[in-house]
Amino acid sequence: MVRGDLSLRLQSLSWKRNSNVKKVMKVLVIHGPNLNLLGKRETDIYGTRSLDEINSTILSLAADLGIDANIVQLNSEGEILDAIQKSNYDALIINPAAYTHTSIAIRDAIAAINKPAIEVHLSNIHSREEFRKKSFIAEVAIGQISGFGPDSYLLALRAAKNLLSQ
Ligand code: DQA
Repeated sequence: MVRGDLSLRLQSLSWKRNSNVKKVMKVLVIHGPNLNLLGKRETDIYGTRSLDEINSTILSLAADLGIDANIVQLNSEGEILDAIQKSNYDALIINPAAYTHTSIAIRDAIAAINKPAIEVHLSNIHSREEFRKKSFIAEVAIGQISGFGPDSYLLALRAAKNLLSQ
């Protein structure tokens, strides 16, 4: 490396140290099984908005909040584990759907990552069938937002922003 080149690199490093360049917050949003069917699936419970429509509102709020949101919908438990184990995000928003009530593996993956996780549900899982009242995810999540329809995701995004800004 030539001398000029090195001094330029040093200058740029010290600029990075001294400037208040804020790292863009990265939030991973995971929609679990069957949520690809939103808009067609049990619309009396889950509403008529499609997953694409809901994702657009999430992305639009994320842009307003200065969050880089990556959204995935995954039907299988293993794929959800793989996504959670990736380290390229600062906070996790997850609607584990039916796996909420069955998956110790997803619970353990969230416990392992050491990042804030927010559990989301469109419906109020506490006002439905008995089996939905048990969430394996709740005890490893910072909190649970349940029952606000698509707004549950937007509330979670605002909560993630506040958590990461602390
Ligand atoms: C859900 C609630 C779960 O009980 C159910 O299995 C789902 C969706 C919700 O968003 O309300 O698939 O997570």
